Amino acid sequence: CGIVGIVGNREVAPLLVDALKRLEYRGYDSAGVATIRDGKLDRRRAEGKLSNLDRRLAEEPLAGQVGIGHTRWATHGAPTEANAHPHFCRGVAVVHNGIIENFAPLRAELIAKGAVFQSQTDTEVVAQLLSAYREQGLAPREAMQKTLSQLEGAYALAVLFEDQPDMILGARSGPPLAVGHGEGEMFLGSDAIALAPFTDEITYLDDGDWAVISHNSVEIYDHSGKPVERASQISRDAAYVVDKGNHRHFMEKEIYEQAEVVSHTLSHYIDFAEGRVKADAAQIDFAALDRLAMSACGTAYYAGLIGKYWFERVARLPVEIDVASEFRYREMPLPGRMAALFISQSGETADTLASLRYCRDSGLTIGTVVNVRGSTMARESDAVFPTLAGPEIGVASTKAFTCQLSVLAALALIAGRTRGTLSAEEEARSVQALVEVPRLFNEILTAIQPQIETLSRELSRFKDVLYLGRGTNFPLALEGALKLKEISYIHAEGYAAGELKHGPIALIDETMPVIVIAPHDRYYEKTVSNMQEVAARGGQIILITDEKGAAATTLDTMATIVLPVVNEIVAPILFALPVQLIAYHTAVFMGTDVDQPRNLAKSVTVE
Ligand code: G6P
Repeated sequence: CGIVGIVGNREVAPLLVDALKRLEYRGYDSAGVATIRDGKLDRRRAEGKLSNLDRRLAEEPLAGQVGIGHTRWATHGAPTEANAHPHFCRGVAVVHNGIIENFAPLRAELIAKGAVFQSQTDTEVVAQLLSAYREQGLAPREAMQKTLSQLEGAYALAVLFEDQPDMILGARSGPPLAVGHGEGEMFLGSDAIALAPFTDEITYLDDGDWAVISHNSVEIYDHSGKPVERASQISRDAAYVVDKGNHRHFMEKEIYEQAEVVSHTLSHYIDFAEGRVKADAAQIDFAALDRLAMSACGTAYYAGLIGKYWFERVARLPVEIDVASEFRYREMPLPGRMAALFISQSGETADTLASLRYCRDSGLTIGTVVNVRGSTMARESDAVFPTLAGPEIGVASTKAFTCQLSVLAALALIAGRTRGTLSAEEEARSVQALVEVPRLFNEILTAIQPQIETLSRELSRFKDVLYLGRGTNFPLALEGALKLKEISYIHAEGYAAGELKHGPIALIDETMPVIVIAPHDRYYEKTVSNMQEVAARGGQIILITDEKGAAATTLDTMATIVLPVVNEIVAPILFALPVQLIAYHTAVFMGTDVDQPRNLAKSVTVE
């Protein structure tokens, strides 16, 4: 799920691997690099982690000053060495992120003309097409233009031609691709973080663009082949050190960073001195709306679900929310007095981007809560609401999630103010509660960490876990189950506590612990009744509550995790902490790859 390319003036194989390591966080299951040396293409590929590729390169080094590299997250074809990129075809080398959706007819056509395929990948059709056009006498640029015009689907590509040892071609339709400008060297990469050791001057390709890089120049063309100018910028991500600090995993580091990044994010939306939200931070006229559409994927979707409760309660603004993979095809009617809000850490998730474009084409105002400022979604939105989480490396989202929640809470308050549904007192109370979040993060972390480590050791013995919550704690229960399953591989389900009776109660016995998120809020009594139902059937309860909730229950639990009593609007932000820590420590006990769980990718740029 990552691409690099270097037209260099030093040996590039180690540099390519280094850049790929910086893309590791995106998730992958095989990797490879190719270079040109003395007019000959050569490559090394390996299944699994980059350490395997490192080993291959140590056994059999790869020389050359121009090369491309790739980490692959399998879509078509198993993650074997034969399916790993770069793919070679008669003097052409290709690496590809995305899916060529019409690869089957293209492949059939090529086979009918005598082509012999070496892999099961969709990518190989690109290499086959390019080499077929070159053999017909087309120059590299013409061959590229002709090949791209035949591809449907999503791609970021980097291409080497054996007879053109000083150039790399890149193309993007969907997944991001950036050009990095060096001194007598030029780079391609999936993001600025990959290129950080080489340069911070970055040009992002627009969707449909393709580029030719050589030692001292970059030419960029649009989808029709017309030369275009794209401005370069100095990337702030480049300065970011991909480093775990004193932590065992990036995920742990990112959990601990939350006090700082949430505070940073909140200061963008809240005037701490005045104790009010900054209404001008919104760029969307919430008062003019009848409805808000929201869409996102994964953890960002759960942040949106929590945001829905806030917008509806605080601002009396109805919210339609759906996962982006459904939203984009649902053909939802989009009336005029509606705006759309998308939530994404990467700003590149294919389904979320497609939903955004659907709404934009329908004429809606588009807002995006996004962590990567230069991302495609940020560039295609009318209003950008940044989360200032800094690069998130762990595949399982933690700090991006709590920053998304912070932004959504602030936006709901702004909407409430502009729509006249929020009193000055409630605004002041809510802002005061938000201001205290960073301090509470640190306090809670110190208080609950040892208890959760002990609990997680026990949890790691179970095969199934149920998470329950009501109100905003329902999406948090979904997020808790998602976190647990994605990194510890323990099967977990999140349910609205009130739905327990309608199905999952049938599963309750001593082998399935039930984690209940229940601060002493308006739903507390109801959730306690649901816990009684679990206890009556021999279920073991782990209760995550606040001091008031803990004092009010006499139920026997496997563990009770107690947080301070806080204002309702900040509760999900703080209650995310025990949920994240339970997943993290359980995964550590299980011995899984916490930062790069199997089969998962950080940035999903395919459907
Ligand atoms: C992947 C990641 C999740 C993330 C989701 C949405 O599934 O593994 O952690 O929540 O994509 O990503 P986005 O970048 O749009 O927030």
